[in-house]
Amino acid sequence: MVEATVHATFDVYRFEPGTDATPRYDRYVLDLPPHTPVLSALLKIRAEIDPSLSLRYSCRSAICGSCAMQINSKSRLACEAPIGPELARDGRIVIEPMRNQPVLRDLVVDQDPFWQNYRKIEPHLILDPRHPMPEGRENPMTPAQVDRFKETPRCIACAACYSACPAVEADPAFPGPMALAKLYRFVVDPRDTARQDRLVRIQTDGLWLCLRCHLCTEACPKDVRPSERIRDLKEMAIAAQGATEPGSRHALAFKENIRDRGPLNEMKLARQSMGLTELVAQLPQGIRIWRKKPELLRAPHAIEGDDEVEKIYDALDDHRSSEDLP
Ligand code: FES
Repeated sequence: MVEATVHATFDVYRFEPGTDATPRYDRYVLDLPPHTPVLSALLKIRAEIDPSLSLRYSCRSAICGSCAMQINSKSRLACEAPIGPELARDGRIVIEPMRNQPVLRDLVVDQDPFWQNYRKIEPHLILDPRHPMPEGRENPMTPAQVDRFKETPRCIACAACYSACPAVEADPAFPGPMALAKLYRFVVDPRDTARQDRLVRIQTDGLWLCLRCHLCTEACPKDVRPSERIRDLKEMAIAAQGATEPGSRHALAFKENIRDRGPLNEMKLARQSMGLTELVAQLPQGIRIWRKKPELLRAPHAIEGDDEVEKIYDALDDHRSSEDLP
C-alpha cells in the first residue's frame, strides 16, 4: 500500500556568518506523509536538496533537547512536531532558529547566555560541611518530599522556554524559566542548606522580572510548567524575606488593592510598590497621565457585591494553604 502524502512547503531561515548576506528564507517543497516530524523533513532537505543547511539534533526521540526551534512561530522540539497539523493550520511551515540567543548559522544558536544563567543558580545540592553524610550512606528523602519537585527532573534543557520568554527578550538580566524552575528544585529539597540564601539572592537576581505570561509553560515539551514554579518561588521569597523589592511589593499591593474595593487603585498601587525616590522620578509621567486621563488617578468606587471578591480571596487562601508549600 502506498502511503498518503501531503504537498509540504517549508520556508527555512538561512544565515551564513562572516558574509555580507543578510538573513533570508529559502523555500523547499516536498511530498511527505503527514506524520513526518519536522526534523525528518529538514534532514531530508539537507540530504537531498541542500547539504549546507545547519541544524542541531541528536536523539530524534524528544530526549536530548537539541532540536528546539521556532516552528510557525512556536518554540517546539522539531523531532516531535509532525508536519500534518502545522500544514493544516498555517498552509506552510516556517522554520526559524530559537529566539533570545544569537544565531551562529541557519538554525543553530549560541546557547551560552542560557547556560550561564543556569550555572548562576548553582544547580547542585549545597550541604552543611559540619554534618557530612556518613561514608557509604545516602541522605534519604520521603516520597512526599520528592513529590514537591516531581516535575523539574523531567526538564531536558531544550531552551524552548527561554526562546518563548518575553522577559528574557526585554531584559537579559532575567535568568529565564528553566534556571528558575531548577532553582525551585533545590529550594524545596530538604537536604539543601542554602535555601534561605537562594531565596534572598534571587529576589535581586531577576525573579520579579517574570511577566506571568505563562508562554514558558505553553512551550515546555515536558510539562515542567516553569511559570508555576516561578510563582511558587515568588511566594517563598516573600515568606523568607518579606516584600523588600519593588516587584514583591507590587505583587502584594496588587493583591490587597483588588481585595479592598474590587477595581485597581492605580495611585495607591504606585505608592505602595515604589520607594520615595522612584515615586518622585515618576512624577512627570504621573502629571502627563493626569492631564490625559485624570480618571485613572482617582480612587475607584468599591464595586457592587465586593463581598464576592472577598470570598474568592478566602477560597484562594484556603487552596494555597492546602497545597502545603514548604
Ligand atoms: S533530537 Fe533530541 S530532542 Fe529532538
